[in-house]
Amino acid sequence: MSDYVSPVGQGIPRLETRDKITGKAVYADDMSRPDMLFGVIVPSPHAHARIAGYDVSAALALDGVVAVVTGEDIGDHKIGPFIKDETALAVGKVRYMGEPVAAVAAVDLETAKQAARLIDIAYEELPAVFDTDAAMAEDAPVLHENSGDYIKVFEADSDGNAMAIIEIVEGDVASAWENCAAIVEGSYETQAQCHSYMEPCSALAEIDSNGKITIWSSNQSVFHVQAFTADALGIPMSKVRCVTPQVGGAFGGKMEQTVQPAAAALARATGRPVKVTLTREQDFEMIRARHPGKVWMKTGAAADGTLLAREVRIVLDAGAYADDSPGVAGIAALFCRGPYRIENVSIESRPIYTNKLRSGAFRGFGGPQVAIAGETQIDEIADRLGLDPIDVRLKNAVRPGEEWMIGVALNKAGLSECLNRVRAASGWDEKRKAAPNGSGRRRGIGVACIPHISGVLTSGAIVRILEDGTAVLNTGAVDNGQGSDTVLVQICAAALGLDVDRVSVATPDTDGSPYNWGTTASRVTYMAGRAVVAASEDAVNQLKQRAAIMMECAEEDLELRDGGRIGIKGVPEAEVGFRDISGFSHWVAGGPVIGTNSLAYDGPDFDPKRGFLRGFPFGKIGAWIFAAQAVEVELDEATGRITPLKIWSAHDIGKAINPTAVEGQIQGGIVQGLGYALCEEMVWDSGRLANPSFMDYKIPGIADVPPQIETILVEDPDEDGPFGAKGIGEPPIVGIAPAISNAVAHAAGIRLRRLPMTPERVLRTLKE
Ligand code: MOS
Repeated sequence: MSDYVSPVGQGIPRLETRDKITGKAVYADDMSRPDMLFGVIVPSPHAHARIAGYDVSAALALDGVVAVVTGEDIGDHKIGPFIKDETALAVGKVRYMGEPVAAVAAVDLETAKQAARLIDIAYEELPAVFDTDAAMAEDAPVLHENSGDYIKVFEADSDGNAMAIIEIVEGDVASAWENCAAIVEGSYETQAQCHSYMEPCSALAEIDSNGKITIWSSNQSVFHVQAFTADALGIPMSKVRCVTPQVGGAFGGKMEQTVQPAAAALARATGRPVKVTLTREQDFEMIRARHPGKVWMKTGAAADGTLLAREVRIVLDAGAYADDSPGVAGIAALFCRGPYRIENVSIESRPIYTNKLRSGAFRGFGGPQVAIAGETQIDEIADRLGLDPIDVRLKNAVRPGEEWMIGVALNKAGLSECLNRVRAASGWDEKRKAAPNGSGRRRGIGVACIPHISGVLTSGAIVRILEDGTAVLNTGAVDNGQGSDTVLVQICAAALGLDVDRVSVATPDTDGSPYNWGTTASRVTYMAGRAVVAASEDAVNQLKQRAAIMMECAEEDLELRDGGRIGIKGVPEAEVGFRDISGFSHWVAGGPVIGTNSLAYDGPDFDPKRGFLRGFPFGKIGAWIFAAQAVEVELDEATGRITPLKIWSAHDIGKAINPTAVEGQIQGGIVQGLGYALCEEMVWDSGRLANPSFMDYKIPGIADVPPQIETILVEDPDEDGPFGAKGIGEPPIVGIAPAISNAVAHAAGIRLRRLPMTPERVLRTLKE
């Protein structure tokens, strides 16, 4: 009898935890190489200007300076995930304050900083636009005059500073309004949010004498870094090797280019290793943020609460470069209807260029900007009709077996159970009945639902059985600190019937790892996990083949047994261990066992003709995930301060591979959602970011987090997911702001439509 316990479902500590706690974990900036130089990036001092010339002589004359590179040196090689509209260092024009214009490498950091100040760049200033209204005005300065020539990976209309116009039209909204017993309408505004990962962007690049550049950097996809660096420098991908050490958080902010191409350009110019690490201030000003959004929305329902129609106009402030904006705007257009059946919709979503920091991917990817509108309008409808907000949501919740939006067929959907579990756990019915208590400090409870996606694009896995029968797993998936290495090892070990300490995980390295699109779209557990299961099964089949030779029997008669053994079915004592099989395969016959898999999501299809980003390979995108969140708040009417008292968060996750890691993801997302709801806001003053530090940009501290966050896991295994699992990364951030807004409406009868809901804004609304 085996006392083997499958690692799937065990809340084991993350593999790298000890190293992180003791400070042993190595991040990009902890690394150094022999003869290494330090690189500093020179930011644009203007929001919009033509570059008239460079004078780098004073910088080069400084003792210890080895090289300066500018946009002229690296050339006009445009990159970008959706629209190729930017270069690693500005060429010809700068389009936001803080944009990288040049980079310098010196023998130490102080010298490099000093040299950066000596680089003299002549600019001719141009008129600039700092918000979407100004950018859409008739005579607005155009940021990208030649946008028609840019390479795009999708089809969507564009117009001046509108880089894409995305439409989804279903049913007939105009006539649906006539059948509505309640119609609500409103405008909503959301802010730029900083990713606030603990580790600022960093890259170390080194070049060999064949011109091959190795880059160690902080990122979400080692393969993306390879591709955009090769593109940005105009060199073949085979000349770029990328490796990812430990990463201190990313949240969407490190999916696309950060400082890797600049570091690589400096390594190429100097022939020596060069490390570039941003200061916190530079990271704020230079990298990317969550899109500020302006959303107008109108929703109508029948007297029984059935949602009949929704009309939405979304405008996202994309900043100076497209980055992931068309994708974010597309996802906002998809998810603005919420996880509900609404037959008549008319949705338009536009990402707009402005002369500010680029906006990009950020946990939720367009969901948070529209959730505040959509989820508070459900409550307004419930109010108008005298219905309970959870009842209205249950009535309209997507259900398994139904066709949802743009042709999506749902096999499973755990939303109703999430709502019912939150209702029961929070004491919802009691608390909603209680009349808001007096004046002064008022209590209220609110709820919000979240739709999201887990999947997108491709992944691979390699499971190699070592000579002693242990295994090494290689997926190329980058663990950003959320615990995916641990989860993937648990999946691999379970599929091989081994304990987790018999499976090690390889560092993501483009020279040796199989392709993985990235740590994004809540996809690593689901997509890389599926590849790991399939590669493990491939390895098991190869082990059986070798064992059949050893045991002189047919492969079909063999079975995998827990604890790393292959045995003859029905004959308990006839078995060989992985160690013996692997020794045999390495030294005698059969060859080393290398299980592999490569997959693209192959589930239910979208109908791309119905709008969205035409032509983008979103055709088949992944498993749908749902959640419901409730927040109880206290509102201080004297100060306008909102204090979250307790939060309940239920998630339709398929199966928790590591419940502790899942809970960590949910709690982390919720805290980031509290920041978005209550305090975080990047503020620009005429193109200059006014608060590029954690002194002036407030993220929640432990004192801002309610003592109780109750996480509820709804486990209904997904047919395709690894051991039934789906993703969890993004949804937990999305419902917090609308749930709080709904709780404040319950407490005090006011509707907050502008984030963050700071005491000043709350007081102003209370006074009105
Ligand atoms: Mo993530 S916001 O999909 O990088």
